[in-house]
Amino acid sequence: MTIAGQGGAALPVPYAMEYRDRVPRERYFDADFFALEARQLWSRVWQMACRLEEIPEANDFVEYEILDQSILVVRAEDGGVRAFQNACRHRGVRFAAGRGNCAAGFTCPFHGWCYGPDGRNTFVPQAKTFAEHNLQPGDLDLVGVRCEAWGGFVWINLDDDAPPLRS
Ligand code: FES
Repeated sequence: MTIAGQGGAALPVPYAMEYRDRVPRERYFDADFFALEARQLWSRVWQMACRLEEIPEANDFVEYEILDQSILVVRAEDGGVRAFQNACRHRGVRFAAGRGNCAAGFTCPFHGWCYGPDGRNTFVPQAKTFAEHNLQPGDLDLVGVRCEAWGGFVWINLDDDAPPLRS
């Protein structure tokens, strides 16, 4: 068995599964295998972030963490779901944790930048101290993460080029 490495070159899979019902134990503690999973797997695959029942009301949110990533999954007003990087666009601070309701939006605890439940930046304190080119909406709004609901779960994917969940 092989996997695609950088540049598309095929690499052998370390600790390949010889039997479907037996996972090689090294997969649980080998540091290189962990790094390979972080690079080749978790940054690319659809992951169950939460159950829909965890965010039943509009603007309910749940934080999902994987490796060094923190993602906020939010129930939209129309009943759909959306997800964002839990990283303030000012200096990258994680501004929310756990779960709650963000009807009043999110406020970063560091310098007070504010975001609506839809991820749009709603307030930059002392905005006039920033140059105009630093206040473009594309640089201020939260970074979206791909998000879909299926089977009662909310799924996220950190790879913008990954196939749709149902594929
Ligand atoms: S890091 Fe969030 S407001 Fe400065």
